[in-house]
Amino acid sequence: MKRSLTGLQPTNFLHIGNYIGAVQPAVALQSDTQLLMMIVDYHAITMPQDPKELRKNILSAAATYLGCGIDPAKTILFQQSRIAEHMELAWILQCVAKMGEAERMTQYKDKAKKAEGAKGAEGASVGLFTYPILMAADILLYDTEIVPVGEDQKQHVELARDLAIRFNRDFGETFVVPEPKIRAEGARIMALDDGTKKMSKSAPSAKSYIALTDDADTIRKKIMSAVTDSGTEIRTDRNRPAITNLLTIFSVATGRSIESIELAYVGKGYGDFKKDLAEAVVEYLGPIRGRILNFAADETELKRILAEGAEKAKGMAAFKMNKVRQRVGVTL
Ligand code: AMP
Ligand code: TRP
Repeated sequence: MKRSLTGLQPTNFLHIGNYIGAVQPAVALQSDTQLLMMIVDYHAITMPQDPKELRKNILSAAATYLGCGIDPAKTILFQQSRIAEHMELAWILQCVAKMGEAERMTQYKDKAKKAEGAKGAEGASVGLFTYPILMAADILLYDTEIVPVGEDQKQHVELARDLAIRFNRDFGETFVVPEPKIRAEGARIMALDDGTKKMSKSAPSAKSYIALTDDADTIRKKIMSAVTDSGTEIRTDRNRPAITNLLTIFSVATGRSIESIELAYVGKGYGDFKKDLAEAVVEYLGPIRGRILNFAADETELKRILAEGAEKAKGMAAFKMNKVRQRVGVTL
């Protein structure tokens, strides 16, 4: 069986963009690949975190993935920080990666600008800079072939590929070269209040996203107040990002093609369209929300599942690191 792996940061909740872009594709991979699903808590601390909140968020991330359909009988669901080999391999890969390569990462440039207010990159943590290399270690440690992610992570997976190829060249065949898997539609869901910005949990307004734990009325309100572009036609168009985004969400939520939805709304207004979209999203997310809340209520069970996942991941990671240490020349 092929191996796939993905990671998400445990930062209070997931939104419909995370679900469509990353979680749903991962859930789909459970049937024909061995999936490893990671809660990347050590990635989360590249930005300041309140320890109490972080602990809560790790458990709620576990509940969220389980609620979204991650099946612990098939998938290894685990917490990154439990497996020290991630950090060990990250160090070795930091010695393989070049400064220029790390400096080119666009997410680092964006996040560094926002870090510590006016201080910009000067005030960003060193971890924020080396984070893509820790992500490469996450991926390469498990001989991962497929990495389901949203569009914004593509550059990081490409870095992991480059580092694998370079290490294999310099030290002998060691790592599998991974491939990013990015869905054709929905890899970049945009904010509801601004069709030109990515939907993000760090957005200042809660109206910009739909959280997986939003109840039906909240979802309806948020969709009814979503911005639309000028013009009245319900049609995708590069110059009309807001309606294009709503059509994408409609299509993913219902499994209908965008063309068939466009056709159904010829001559109808935004009001009708949004009402139907709201119901489609309520139907799409409702069952997930219920399951997330159920899992979240049983902390003991969540911890048991994570401990079991960590044990499985640990064995795989330890095996690989033995080989890597030999290749590097530190094993006597
Ligand atoms: P983040 O929320 O940045 O921790 O991202 C977690 C995962 O969700 C990554 O695979 C992202 O690529 C994906 N993701 C985040 N935001 C979006 C979005 N607006 N649309 C689609 N995928 C997203
Ligand atoms: N960097 C990813 C994000 O913020 C999360 C991540 C960490 C990841 N390690 C990974 C994703 C390995 C895929 C594979 O979204």
